[in-house]
Amino acid sequence: MQEFLHLLRLEPVNQGASTGVNWLTCDSSKQTTITSPVDGGLIGKINKAGAKEYDQVLATAEKAFQLWRVMPAPKRGEIVRQIGNVLRENKRSLGQLVSYEMGKSLQEGMGEVQEMIDICDFSVGLSRQLYGLTIASERPNHRMMETWQPLGIVGVVTSFNFPVAVWAWNAMIAAVCGDVVIWKPSHKTPLSAIATQKLIADVLKENNVPEGVFSLITGDTREISERITQDHRVPLISATGSTRMGKIVGKACAERFGRTILELGGNNAIILSQEADLKLALPAIVFGAVGTAGQRCTTTRRLIVHDSIYESIREKLVTAYSTLRIGNPLDENNHVGPLIDKEAVHTMQEALKKLKEQGGKVVFGGEVLSGKGYETGTYVRPAICEAKNEYPIVQEETFAPILYLIRYKTIDEAISYQNGVAQGLSSAIFTNNMLEMEQFLSPVGSDCGIANVNIGTSGAEIGGAFGGEKETGGGHESGSDSWKMYMRRQTVTINYGSTVPLAQGIKFDL
Ligand code: UN1
Repeated sequence: MQEFLHLLRLEPVNQGASTGVNWLTCDSSKQTTITSPVDGGLIGKINKAGAKEYDQVLATAEKAFQLWRVMPAPKRGEIVRQIGNVLRENKRSLGQLVSYEMGKSLQEGMGEVQEMIDICDFSVGLSRQLYGLTIASERPNHRMMETWQPLGIVGVVTSFNFPVAVWAWNAMIAAVCGDVVIWKPSHKTPLSAIATQKLIADVLKENNVPEGVFSLITGDTREISERITQDHRVPLISATGSTRMGKIVGKACAERFGRTILELGGNNAIILSQEADLKLALPAIVFGAVGTAGQRCTTTRRLIVHDSIYESIREKLVTAYSTLRIGNPLDENNHVGPLIDKEAVHTMQEALKKLKEQGGKVVFGGEVLSGKGYETGTYVRPAICEAKNEYPIVQEETFAPILYLIRYKTIDEAISYQNGVAQGLSSAIFTNNMLEMEQFLSPVGSDCGIANVNIGTSGAEIGGAFGGEKETGGGHESGSDSWKMYMRRQTVTINYGSTVPLAQGIKFDL
């Protein structure tokens, strides 16, 4: 058994629902087995939660909210501070588990835990900054203000590619805002979530945090996801994943006027100008395209290259890709680990086939690796392709390391390609030309939620709001003032005069 599984206190058979410290006993006849995409090794089993456990988790969360919402926000922040410390102490083992269960490199696994720690620190500060405004009233002797109140139960649906960080961006902010959280992790990476829940349980226990403030539930989509999105007791669902999933969740929540934060697919591009500093650009492009084996929603999928440097860039990328070490992500010498499962490998192969049918070309990589160390059939060589922006396959987000090279002649053309997709998450330009940079950042520039200059498309910091436009869903998580989505805005007007004047000058004398 891997040492980190032991350190993280994962059991051979784990329960699929927890209300904080307590784990609910789930039906052992509904078991799921989690194996690693790294080497096919068994990580653990889970008894899946069902409708009964769902109701129990919801009822406990409802009760917890009554208590949690009246605890002073800085006191809630203190709990979050301690959670951050537990994550610091366990950064390596949790990073290893993330790497083993999901397949990303150990560096990135630990980077993911670092994102959790960072958002804890951010949230502790935020717990003393949940302030509103005082607004000029049009009436004499009146004061108008805006206050922010806790919202209620927040359902956090996370994706396999960031099995733990996405929860933290949502849960830590929600917690200081006075909300209680129910986490529904991806069914592909539930053990990283269960291990996280066990780590935070120590803090919850020591501080007598009521059961139900941080819950976790994992089970079949019909039993859990459908229930939570349709549940009027859950005023906010924050969901990260595919655009297809977002459409279902968004619709179900809208039906009951629930609030959503949707962080869905991306189709991120880098514009590479002839005036770019290639020393900066090349490593950023390669990391953006092959990091997490192309399975970040911020992965660089399109490289829009100036005509005058196109051929030389293609050659330089082929050279760089030839040096990539692909293999067990827990070995720190490797750059690229496996895809999450064979289905993802199949999807990648299909995308490359479609690209060729549509007129494109694979210039490097793309093949499924076999032989020693690759027995799982989940390892692929990242692909460099030549394409046109309008190809249907280029318009899609394929969650795999495929980089499409697209040629441009003018900056206007480059920006129109950049924006010419249905998704709008992350974007970047590499240039030393100030005019190009400013145009890229202007109202006629990038239409994405994230716009970077001389930085790749992935690896956003938690201090900014994270999210994107169009089919990316429009939701924002993490930093800046994203916290406002987790709270109820209230406009308050106080009359300290001796008459009751009406707004808009309306007279109503009795
Ligand atoms: C995701 O892939 O869902 O910006 C999130 C990044 C990371 C988060 C990615 N901080 O690449």
